[in-house]
Order: sequence, then structure tokens, then C-alpha cells
Amino acid sequence: MFTAKENRYEKMIYRRCGKSGLKLPAVSLGFWQNFGHKGCFANMENMVHTAFDLGITHFDLANNYGNPYNGSAEENFGRILDGMRHYRDEMCISTKAGYDMWPGPYGDKNGSRKYLTASLDQSLKRMKLDYVDIFYHHVFDPNTPLEETALALDNAVKQGKALYVGISNYNKAQTEEIMSIFKDLHTPFVVNQPSYAMLNRWIEDDGLDKFAAESGFGLAVFSPLYQGFLTNKYLKGVPEDSRVGKGQTWIGNQLDDKMVARLNKLNDIAAERGQSLSQMALSWVLKNEAVTTVLIGASRPEQITENAACIEKLDFTESELARIEAVLRSDS
Ligand SMILES: NC(=O)c1ccc[n+]([C@@H]2O[C@H](COP(=O)([O-])OP(=O)(O)OC[C@H]3O[C@@H](n4cnc5c(N)ncnc54)[C@H](OP(=O)(O)O)[C@@H]3O)[C@@H](O)[C@H]2O)c1
Repeated sequence: MFTAKENRYEKMIYRRCGKSGLKLPAVSLGFWQNFGHKGCFANMENMVHTAFDLGITHFDLANNYGNPYNGSAEENFGRILDGMRHYRDEMCISTKAGYDMWPGPYGDKNGSRKYLTASLDQSLKRMKLDYVDIFYHHVFDPNTPLEETALALDNAVKQGKALYVGISNYNKAQTEEIMSIFKDLHTPFVVNQPSYAMLNRWIEDDGLDKFAAESGFGLAVFSPLYQGFLTNKYLKGVPEDSRVGKGQTWIGNQLDDKMVARLNKLNDIAAERGQSLSQMALSWVLKNEAVTTVLIGASRPEQITENAACIEKLDFTESELARIEAVLRSDS
């Protein structure tokens, strides 16, 4: 039986999710990769225990996380939880549905009430939970009326299967539209989950971050390390045991000489700040006040320990920000 370290909450900071009552740790753990049946279970368990001992109380899942993608991460998380269910009330667990999941017209990429309702039931069974804290629609579906998707999420709350609802990969306009429906329904909508990193700033261009801050919902941002680029991993080439080395990402072709040079310059700035590159990249994302939490991925416990320490230095000087900006905007 896992026993968490007593002082774990002193090691993390907690930020309010928008204007809701829910607080999330500044750093959260995501289960997209490395938690499937092809991985080593002891390593997964160790990662969850390490995270929880660092005060990382938020675990982000989805029906399609893990390899194979049909529920394997949720199943493994359920097994890990078996050794720590007595901490359930100290955890915030989220899951999602929206991407392709099972054969036929009811489990493909969509936002129907039929799919979301069945999928949440399956997720609860796999994790052996009565409820999740946050249930997300994973990706905007232009073919399903937003009222239907909103009602399906709202219904999950009314049935006691989710406490809050979220949306993911919705831009500002799509968020505005579904929010007006949530408002009418009094749905506890608290969070949007977009991608955001030093190398991926679409939410700033779209205005989603400003809109979140003004409207009072939180942002749980994914791939804040740009799937591992913004770490010390690729500074001198591509290691075999990396996401790019294993061909587990579609952005591997962006890792050209110019990108590696840029990463090395960012690494120099991080070193001057007394941080690793991954820590600086996470601190940089967290300086955006609209961001509630960064959802990090990991392949080993040491990465989680290193990344969680980003909260020790969240402030940037004007000069550091200007130098970072110059590197990000440079073409060489
Ligand atoms: N809503 C959505 O559509 C969506 C989409 C994607 C992700 N997400 C969520 O966001 C979470 C994180 O996504 P992500 O895994 O792409 O995030 P990320 O934090 O940008 O990348 C994580 C990867 O970076 C590497 N890494 C992390 N820390 C490191 C360190 N200190 N030193 C060296 N390498 C390090 C590891 O890769 P190696 O395997 O190479 O070691 C790790 O798997 C997911 O698990 C999921 O919960 C949501």
C-alpha cells in the first residue's frame, strides 16, 4: 500500500482554475504516452507515486491514451489507484472523449451524446471510479450541434459521474459559443485544454488566453515542453530512447539544425537563470496568468522531479524575456 510523504503539499503551488472553486497544482501529470500496455508497469506506478509525493494532485487522462489507444492508460491508472485509493479525495482526475475510439459510427471522432455518455461509463469502469473530477469533450466537432455536446457534458454532471466539465482543442470562438449554452444550463464548466509552449503560441494569436482570463475559466495547457524539444534531450542529437527517436511524434521533422541551435541558445539562458531548459520552458508558460496548470508528460520519474522544480523560479526579468523572445523569433 502506497503511503504518501506528509509534506508533499509544501512542495507545490496550487492555482485557482479560472474563477471556480477548484484549485489545480501548477504542474500536472498527463497520461497520453508511456502509460499503455506496451510500457513497464513498475515505471508507470513509480511515476505516479513520484508525482503525488511532489504535490502533483492532478492526473489527466483520456479514453484513447496509451498504446494500444483503446483505454490502456486508464486501465493501468486504475491498477495504480488500487494501491492508493485512500487518497482519492486528495486527487483531481480528469478524462476525455472525442477522438476516434471504437469501431462503427458511435465511437469515431465526434461529440454526440451517444458517444460521450458511453465513453464516460467505460472510462469509469476502467479506472474503477464512481466519478471523475473533470470530464472533457476532447476536440471540437463541426458536425454535431454544440447544444448536444454541451447537454451530454451537463448530463454527466447531473448523473454524478463528473464534478466539472471541460473542453479541449476549442479555439476562442468555439469556446464562446459553447459557454453561452453552459451558462443557460448552469453547467460547471471550468477549463479549456489547449496546447501551449514557447514553440507553440497559437492561443496568444487567437486570443483564447485573454478570453479565459476575462471570462473566468482556467487553461490546463498540454505539451508545454513541445513534446520534449524544450528539454536537454535533443541538444546534441536524437537519443534512441526519446519520443522523436522512437517515431512517437509527428513533429520530429521540425528538429532540424536551426531548431537545435535555438534550443541550445535557450538552454544557455536557462543555465544563467539556474534552471534546466525544461524548467525554464515550464516557468515561461506559467508566467501567462491565464494558465492554471501545465500538463507534462514523462517517460521516467526523474523527469517529473526535475520539471516540478520549475515552480522554484517563476519570475523572469525584462531582459531575460527579451532574450528569449529574440531566440524564439530568430530564423537561425
Ligand atoms: N487534449 C489534447 O488533445 C492533448 C494532446 C496531447 C497531450 N495532452 C495532455 O498533455 C500531456 C502532456 O503532453 P506531452 O507528453 O506532449 O507533454 P510534454 O511535457 O511537452 O512532453 C513530454 C515528453 O518530454 C520528455 N521530457 C519531459 N520532461 C523531460 C525532462 N526533464 N528531460 C528530458 N525529457 C523530458 C519526455 O519524452 P521522452 O519520451 O522522449 O523521454 C516526455 O514524454 C499528455 O499526457 C496529456 O495529458 C492533451
